[in-house]
Amino acid sequence: MRVLITGGAGFIGSHLCDRFLADGHDVIAMDNLLTGTTDNIAHLIGHERFLFIKHNVTNYIYLKGPLDAILHFASPASPIDYLELPIQTLKVGALGTHNALGLAKEKGARFLLASTSEVYGDPLVHPQPESYWGNVNPVGPRGVYDEAKRFAEALTMAYHHYHGVDTRIVRIFNTYGPRMRLADGRVVPNFIQQALRHEPLTAYGDGMQTRSFQYVDDLVEGIVRLLHSDETEPVNIGNPREFTIREFAELVNRLTGNPAGIVFKPELRITDDPQTRQPDITKARRVLGWEPKVQLQEGLVRTIAYFDELLREEGVKAYTMKDVDQLGITRITAETLERLAGTERLHVSFDADALDPSVAPGVGTPVPGGLTYREGHLLMELLAESGRVTSLDIVEVNPVLDTRNQTAEVMVGMAASLLGQRIL
Ligand SMILES: NC(=O)c1ccc[n+]([C@@H]2O[C@H](COP(=O)([O-])OP(=O)(O)OC[C@H]3O[C@@H](n4cnc5c(N)ncnc54)[C@H](O)[C@@H]3O)[C@@H](O)[C@H]2O)c1
Repeated sequence: MRVLITGGAGFIGSHLCDRFLADGHDVIAMDNLLTGTTDNIAHLIGHERFLFIKHNVTNYIYLKGPLDAILHFASPASPIDYLELPIQTLKVGALGTHNALGLAKEKGARFLLASTSEVYGDPLVHPQPESYWGNVNPVGPRGVYDEAKRFAEALTMAYHHYHGVDTRIVRIFNTYGPRMRLADGRVVPNFIQQALRHEPLTAYGDGMQTRSFQYVDDLVEGIVRLLHSDETEPVNIGNPREFTIREFAELVNRLTGNPAGIVFKPELRITDDPQTRQPDITKARRVLGWEPKVQLQEGLVRTIAYFDELLREEGVKAYTMKDVDQLGITRITAETLERLAGTERLHVSFDADALDPSVAPGVGTPVPGGLTYREGHLLMELLAESGRVTSLDIVEVNPVLDTRNQTAEVMVGMAASLLGQRIL
């Protein structure tokens, strides 16, 4: 099969790329890197059956050659992302899904939509079967995500009924695992990184709200089975085992040996955040013969190992454009600063070859991993405001191309004036 995975550089998308390649298929990952990163697929670059295309699927998608399946996973997915990117979220759910369905129709490809348990909103039925229509506030802050996905489901069914496109809809429940972003704001990376830094875990609300956690390998298996099945109506894929946030926090602290405990912040509860959510997976069991296999403790051990390595490798956090975007750096908020709370020493890579065109017109193309002049400036403003960073490494990603050594000079000067601290 030749498979297109939109959102292929994201957390789930990149695991799908791995799986489809391992199963012997040709894989095209399409992503605009809005919330994803090429780090997630770096190990696949150069693979003879893998291709990465940087493209915003909200715009028309053109692809040469035949296509057997499209897995449409492009969309901001964590609350922090979609609250910061409300219009992009609505656009990718609506226009992006439309474009991806159009491509499926043109190529005669099977189409699988990544939908979500959020279509059930703050559910009045517990656990939620696929037949439950949900309880969603369309004008609440989460409406941008929930309604985009509901619209995407409706559009998928319309293409199925009216254009005969062969479609599948997976309603994904809370999934975790390696390649989640440290700063994505969801409870799993939040808790793990706090625990690894031996800080108290911050639980929103009173910690009594429940969540079910599905390990990414279980999800990928469910998606593959659904794609190959004949089921065209939505199917829940999630882990029905429920934990309170308090129980979950205690487990993370135990597995990481974190002595710092838990703090509860009732004031930080996100508006319309469901109190309970649990999948009814009767249908997945019946139709796909699927059920989750990975126990929470086992999945957490693997995920903790991933984050541990990430934090160690970086020693300190290396910020790239992705992080700058994700941190919402153009709008500095108390929350953004809180996310930097653990940072004392920072390693920043500046890309000499990606200077802001207004500073150096016509200079080169960006090098992955480097910050441009503008991004660097924004980052330093943020750091200056946080007042927490006590040392800063400045590294040029591509000094060879910076013949006049301009970037380093500019950056050091900027850092000195903005941070007013010793620069290493
Ligand atoms: N992670 C979960 O628990 C969960 C739960 C329910 C549903 N989902 C769905 O699964 C999908 C993947 O989620 P994830 O957790 O991997 O999130 P993610 O943010 O890691 O991945 C989403 C990817 O989509 C890309 N993207 C966003 N807008 C795009 C656009 N316009 N054009 C091209 N690429 C674009 C991002 O850059 C990113 O790589 C999403 O559709 C999400 O709604 C995830």
